[in-house]
Amino acid sequence: MTWLITGGAGYIGAHVARAMAESGQQAVVLDDFSTGLPERLRAVPGAGGEPGVPGDIPLVRGSTLDGAALETAIAEYGVTGVIHLAARKQVAESVERPLHYYRENVHGLTVLLEAVAAAGVRRFVFSSSAAVYGMPDVDLVTEDTPCLPMNPYGETKLTGEWLVRAAGQAHGISTSCLRYFNVAGAAEPALADTGVSNIIPMFFDALTRGEAPKIFGDDYPTPDGTCVRDYIHVQDLAEAHVKAAGLLSPDGSAGDLTLNIGTGSGVSVREMASLVAEVTGRREPAAEVAPRRAGDPARVVASARRAEKELGWTARHDVRAMVASAWEGWLLRHPELG
Ligand SMILES: NC(=O)c1ccc[n+]([C@@H]2O[C@H](COP(=O)([O-])OP(=O)(O)OC[C@H]3O[C@@H](n4cnc5c(N)ncnc54)[C@H](O)[C@@H]3O)[C@@H](O)[C@H]2O)c1
Repeated sequence: MTWLITGGAGYIGAHVARAMAESGQQAVVLDDFSTGLPERLRAVPGAGGEPGVPGDIPLVRGSTLDGAALETAIAEYGVTGVIHLAARKQVAESVERPLHYYRENVHGLTVLLEAVAAAGVRRFVFSSSAAVYGMPDVDLVTEDTPCLPMNPYGETKLTGEWLVRAAGQAHGISTSCLRYFNVAGAAEPALADTGVSNIIPMFFDALTRGEAPKIFGDDYPTPDGTCVRDYIHVQDLAEAHVKAAGLLSPDGSAGDLTLNIGTGSGVSVREMASLVAEVTGRREPAAEVAPRRAGDPARVVASARRAEKELGWTARHDVRAMVASAWEGWLLRHPELG
């Protein structure tokens, strides 16, 4: 088995590459480096090495929009399965640039699936997102909760799931769509998320600039009035990929799984602000409340039971471990704070 990991130089993709290598799988990474970092891959043992050397993860610079590059990579490395993470992921940017998001996330996926089907690859894992649910009005979101995405990003992920399932059925490909909830933390500092669009790095960023972290809205119908989310450690998420990939069978018989990847527990924004202050030791300036942001649901917490049943997987890391490991990654890029 050789797995093609698209987007493997990204935050989650590098963790998936690391987890696959640790589980003894052969893999090759394809990335266009639009947001990915070569140095992140250098922290993955064996990554970027010579093709054909056991344990090495060769790196192909290329786009999922380039069918010829995909065909060459699949043939050259004898790819037998794909874990597809390459995508644009910023909700606000997707509202401003919907055509770009549909092109990268949906057209890129179509081109990739064409190459996969033509080459007879029979296993495909797709990075989906809790964004497919939109504003779910339920205590725990199950995979059967209606999907009503509220922005182009979520739409591209839901359309992606449809494409993956349809192509799977038509071409005998075993497929798995993993709906990640709020991904956080790092397996090691060099692999940490470098963006500041997620809440933990957003809080770190404010503290680094001596500004108060912002809590958007404290009048939601939740215990402390702030939004509640389900945070999943990226290392647990990467292990879920290894399990999901291992379940897929070449004859397509074990395919078509759609799974929430979360913990089943909610953490409020205010609780997160306190934890960040505690872990970083930076309690000042204290978090301040700003008006609600449009489109923020009050509560989005996964039911993780189907993933537990189907994959034999549960999250092992708690939210403190996520904040602590993310902070180590932040300090690596801001040594002046150490
Ligand atoms: N981070 C989260 O909280 C989260 C939550 C739900 C789902 N996801 C999904 O997980 C996946 C990975 O997200 P991430 O947080 O690691 O983001 P990221 O931006 O760090 O990683 C994406 C990687 O894909 C590469 N890439 C983008 N478009 C490409 C293309 N057309 N061809 C080749 N490479 C391309 C980028 O260079 C980058 O290395 C995405 O599909 C995202 O939608 C992320």
